[in-house]
Amino acid sequence: MRAAVLSSFDAPPAYRDHPDPATTGDGEMVVEVLAAGLHHLTRSKATGAHYSSNGVFPLVPGVDGVVRDPAGRLRYAVLDDTSLGTFADRTVIDVRRSVLLPEGADPVRIAAAMNPGMSSWVTLRRRIAFRPGQRVLIIGATGNAGRMAIQIAKLFGAGHVIAAGRDASRLAALTALGADETCTFDEIHRAADVDVVLDYVWGEPAAGAMIPMLTTRADRTVPLTWIQIGSMAGGDAPIPSAVLRAARLEIIGSGIGSVPARDFLAELPQLAAAIAGDTIEVRAKAVPLADISRAWTAADTGDRLVLVP
Ligand SMILES: NC(=O)c1ccc[n+]([C@@H]2O[C@H](COP(=O)([O-])OP(=O)(O)OC[C@H]3O[C@@H](n4cnc5c(N)ncnc54)[C@H](OP(=O)(O)O)[C@@H]3O)[C@@H](O)[C@H]2O)c1
Repeated sequence: MRAAVLSSFDAPPAYRDHPDPATTGDGEMVVEVLAAGLHHLTRSKATGAHYSSNGVFPLVPGVDGVVRDPAGRLRYAVLDDTSLGTFADRTVIDVRRSVLLPEGADPVRIAAAMNPGMSSWVTLRRRIAFRPGQRVLIIGATGNAGRMAIQIAKLFGAGHVIAAGRDASRLAALTALGADETCTFDEIHRAADVDVVLDYVWGEPAAGAMIPMLTTRADRTVPLTWIQIGSMAGGDAPIPSAVLRAARLEIIGSGIGSVPARDFLAELPQLAAAIAGDTIEVRAKAVPLADISRAWTAADTGDRLVLVP
C-alpha cells in the first residue's frame, strides 16, 4: 500500500510504498482510511515533541481518522500509540476505540473536527461539573478548537461566552459563531467575571491575563476554574503566586490522563453526531495524501488540513 512515512524526526514524511497492515490482537481490524486530520497532536507525536513519541522509525503519522471497516461501515477511530497511523491507504484500528458514523457523513468534515472539538466537549462534560448559565472565556478562540469551543459551550447552555485572541480581525468573525463578546489579550480585564476559562494558548498570554482579570473581578471569592487545554504560546507559564492567594482560582488541565480514556471514548458518539449534523461550523481543507510532504510544511491558513488517500 501507499503511506506517508517518516524516517526521522527532522524531515517531513515521504509518500511511498509501505508494508500492508495486519492485525495482532483482540478487537483489531484492518480498515480503509478515508480521511485523517493533520492536528497539532499528530505533528508533536511525529516530531518527537510529545511525551508519547518513542523515536522508532519508520513511522506512519496520524492519530485518528475516518475509515471504512471490512463490513463496509463508516467509523471514526482514534489510534493508540502506534508506528502505523492513519496517513496510509489502510491501517489497523481497535474497534473499541472507534464509533460508527451515519452513512452519508462527510469523512473530511468529521476527520477535521473530532480532535479540536473533543477538547471543549470532553472538558465541559467530563473534566468539570459545568452548569448551564455559567460564563465562559475562551483564550485562543480564533483557532479550530477555540472556534468549536464557542459553539460547544453555547450548545451546553453557557450563559455568556467571551472569545479572546491576539488578532482583532480574526476575533471579529466569532460573534457569528455565537460569541457574546470578543476581546484581545490587552482587553482581557473585560472577562473578569467569568466562571470557566478554556485556555488553548497558555505561556505568557495566560499568565499575563490572570492579574488584570482577577483584580477587576467583582467578587474574588467566587470560584474561577482555569482549564489548561493547549499550549500554543508555550508549555510554561509564569503564574504570579498572588493570583492563587487573592482569588478563588483553581488551575486544572484537560486531556487524556486528566480525563480517563474511557470517558473520551464515551463522548465520541454524541460529538460525532453533532459534527455530522451540520450544527457546528468546521473549517477543513482536503489534501491528497500523495501531497503530504508539501502539506506538512505548508503555512497555516486556519483550515484544518485533512489527508485523503
Ligand atoms: N487537551 C486536548 O484535549 C486537546 C485537544 C485538541 C487540541 N488541543 C490543543 O489545543 C491547541 C489549539 O489547537 P487548534 O486545533 O485550535 O489549533 P489551531 O487551529 O492551529 O489554532 C491555534 C490557536 O492558537 C493561537 N495562537 C497560536 N500561537 C499563539 C501565540 N504565540 N500567542 C497567542 N495565541 C496563539 C492562534 O491564534 P491566531 O488565530 O491569532 O493565529 C489560534 O487561535 C493546541 O495546542 C492543541 O494541541 C488540546
